[in-house]
Amino acid sequence: DIAGEQVERAPVVTVMGHVDHGKTSLLDYIRETRVAAGESGGITQHIGAYHVETGHGMVSFLDTPGHAAFTAMRARGAQLTDIVILVVAADDGVMPQTEEAVNHAKAAGVPLVIAVNKIDKEDADPERVKNELAQRDVLPEEWGGDVQFVNVSAKTGEGIDALLDAVLLQAEILELKAIPEASGRGVVVESRLDKGRGPVATLLVQNGTLRQGDIVLAGLQYGRVRAMLDENGKPVKEAGPSIPVEILGLDGTPGAGDEFTVVSNEKKAREVALFRQGKYREVKLQRQQQ
Ligand code: GTP
Ligand code: NA
Ligand code: MG
Repeated sequence: DIAGEQVERAPVVTVMGHVDHGKTSLLDYIRETRVAAGESGGITQHIGAYHVETGHGMVSFLDTPGHAAFTAMRARGAQLTDIVILVVAADDGVMPQTEEAVNHAKAAGVPLVIAVNKIDKEDADPERVKNELAQRDVLPEEWGGDVQFVNVSAKTGEGIDALLDAVLLQAEILELKAIPEASGRGVVVESRLDKGRGPVATLLVQNGTLRQGDIVLAGLQYGRVRAMLDENGKPVKEAGPSIPVEILGLDGTPGAGDEFTVVSNEKKAREVALFRQGKYREVKLQRQQQ
């Protein structure tokens, strides 16, 4: 890495919680979009990554699925992040994937901010949510603990400003820093094979800056970044610390959770990728050709 100056970076915030407790709706309200309405069966099935100017400061959000089938994705979501927003529907209370999320956050050593959602509903009981979480060692500040609880409604928008304030307060305590003037590195959020565009990977830059044209080594794959897109599909030329981007140009789909680094030499990148793939014969051949 080139020596650069450490500067403050935006927090990476993973939104977790039981299925249908309102994670995607909450992010929709914050981002002013309608992602939840377009999901098949109203179920999130992948990790969505968004970079948002909230009006309270920049935040990168990772949305995760609440459905029971996606435990591994949630565990990864907790590992990638600085802060977890745990969404609990006030009309439903603590449910199995709420507990699971608490455990993932604790295992990853990541602080929680609790969004007690759906308080617009008639049968909402936010005090019950507090009690149920307190029983699981998630103790509200007002009861002598260190966890911020915020009552919100993703439907009416009530409390969402307070939630963002709570998140940014938590981020301040963490003193998050990175060096933008270094070669980009970070982690693969997810990847897929697109019919027309080939392998597409969502990367979260954790340090340095990733640029179009960079040679990237990501897990077992490598390639030159042919194009970069933000979460709205808009082309971007570079992405700094805490920013998620989609990249095109890898020779395959890296695993979610794999690390990526920018490297200076394409031949070297290919060699390392082949080595990691266990293609030792090809590595030898390539070396002989040099
Ligand atoms: P998964 O990703 O499938 O786990 O669900 P989710 O947690 O992202 O929940 P989603 O945003 O899909 O919302 C589930 C349902 O709850 C939808 O019908 C939403 O419209 C509704 N909903 C979400 N938030 C609120 C809220 O604050 N108030 C009310 N009344 N309904 C809400
Ligand atoms: Na849902
Ligand atoms: Mg969702």
